[in-house]
Amino acid sequence: MKINYLTKDVMTDKSDFLILPLLKKSWKKNGLLVALDEKLDGLLLKALRADSFDAGKYLGSYAFQTWGKLPFERILLVGLGDKKLGADMLWDLAYFVSKQLRLDAVKKATMLCDFEAFGVDSAKALQQMVLGLRMGDYRFEQYLSRNKRSDKLSQFTFFGDEKLSGNAAKKAILDGQALADGIDFTRDLVNTTAEQMTPAKLASEASKMAKEMGLQIKVESEAAIKKRKMGLYLAVARASAEPPKLITVTYNPPRSAKVLKPLVLVGKGVTYDSGGLSLKPTAGMATMKCDMAGSAAVLGAMKAIGALKPKRQVIAIVAACENMPGGKSYKVGDVFTAANGLSVEVLNTDAEGRLTLADALVYANSFKPAKIVDVATLTGACVVALGEYTAAAMGNDEKFVGEALDAAKEAGEDFWQMPLNPKLKKLLKSDIADMKNVGSRWGGAIIAGLFLEEFVDETPWVHMDIAGPAFLESEAPGHLPKGATGFGVATLVELAKK
Ligand code: BES
Ligand code: ZN
Ligand code: ZN
Repeated sequence: MKINYLTKDVMTDKSDFLILPLLKKSWKKNGLLVALDEKLDGLLLKALRADSFDAGKYLGSYAFQTWGKLPFERILLVGLGDKKLGADMLWDLAYFVSKQLRLDAVKKATMLCDFEAFGVDSAKALQQMVLGLRMGDYRFEQYLSRNKRSDKLSQFTFFGDEKLSGNAAKKAILDGQALADGIDFTRDLVNTTAEQMTPAKLASEASKMAKEMGLQIKVESEAAIKKRKMGLYLAVARASAEPPKLITVTYNPPRSAKVLKPLVLVGKGVTYDSGGLSLKPTAGMATMKCDMAGSAAVLGAMKAIGALKPKRQVIAIVAACENMPGGKSYKVGDVFTAANGLSVEVLNTDAEGRLTLADALVYANSFKPAKIVDVATLTGACVVALGEYTAAAMGNDEKFVGEALDAAKEAGEDFWQMPLNPKLKKLLKSDIADMKNVGSRWGGAIIAGLFLEEFVDETPWVHMDIAGPAFLESEAPGHLPKGATGFGVATLVELAKK
């Protein structure tokens, strides 16, 4: 999608749709609305009155045919309400607009933005709107033989004033596009079926992306993983016909930048979670191709980071494997040893994500990082606690958890902190090993977090449980679509930029 920013008179443009976002407090006095109304012989305001359009309703909208009286076939008025607009709301606004355009198969649209009146930073607002447009225009049609749509929005022009310079606007659009490319990549990886998105395929997609973006990549197979003594990860992987792949992607900042300790991103990469011998019921398995959404999010973030070139080194780690039942399965009651020497009694093979992540976190520590973030579709309990649209954040360092939550807010993603209550640690005590991999039914998301904490040493670390928002069975209000959402990418990129 080609996205432009112009400061000319919007009437000099010509497109299928003109979109006009309006604030409750000032919409009736909006200069352009009045000018449009004049050109339409007063019919627009008359119609709005008759149909009681109210800009006080956030994302309430009104479409109007111009019958050749204007260079735009239609006008779409969108209410912005009267609350302070945040990064998430601008993302939502553009997502909403792009869906409206999609309904009418619009190819070329124009939007007039008075960013200053919106009370938001113009460049930031523009970047968030690029995300919304791109996200709404995404299609996943790999498995369709018919009814494919050719109605992609090909051109979108924002009109603003000189207060946002052409160069700043250009950068905001490029940044937004880079982030959207990362999110699209994540969504493609997650939407692809587990039959195709095997650990090897995930590794080859990561390699392709790394080459394209100028990142370093290392893919290790079973022998190397054994050498690393990643006993928990290997236990999960061992029943599958698809061999595990340990993926490490590195972004090195421009040489002129000061050398800083790296930020390490760890993503859960279970390309299919059947539950193993603790087999899931059919309904629980149906969406388990999404169990690599954490790894897809860190890889999507790396794609964006490769384009945005922040000052800090960023390393992404994915311990990719399948969790399958079979003659070689790890068994309920078995004990395995992690790369840091801790032994773990497996009392549920469906709590596999924490096992793969534990070894990946030990590996992450070997980079002597400034900070570690892991992202995982880790527990159903997290979805019970927070609902489908909110991810959990928890960690061993209150300051860093705060930074992660701030980054999420800046990025426009919905996170909520959960307490890593040390009193619950006793639930992970095992009779025969250092720990067991499950605790009680209560506080399941926190217990998973407490388990991971044993593998991160002193490094400030945040665990993000994205089991809810990573993959949705139906579209959410706001900007999260059905299927893979790309959740987490924007927050990770924001953190990397800090
Ligand atoms: N991959 C699942 C968690 C999940 C559930 C992700 C729903 C997305 C949507 C994870 O591996 C799992 O099965 N967790 C178990 C843990 C339990 C056995 C302690 C769960 O949440 O039931
Ligand atoms: Zn599981
Ligand atoms: Zn899982």
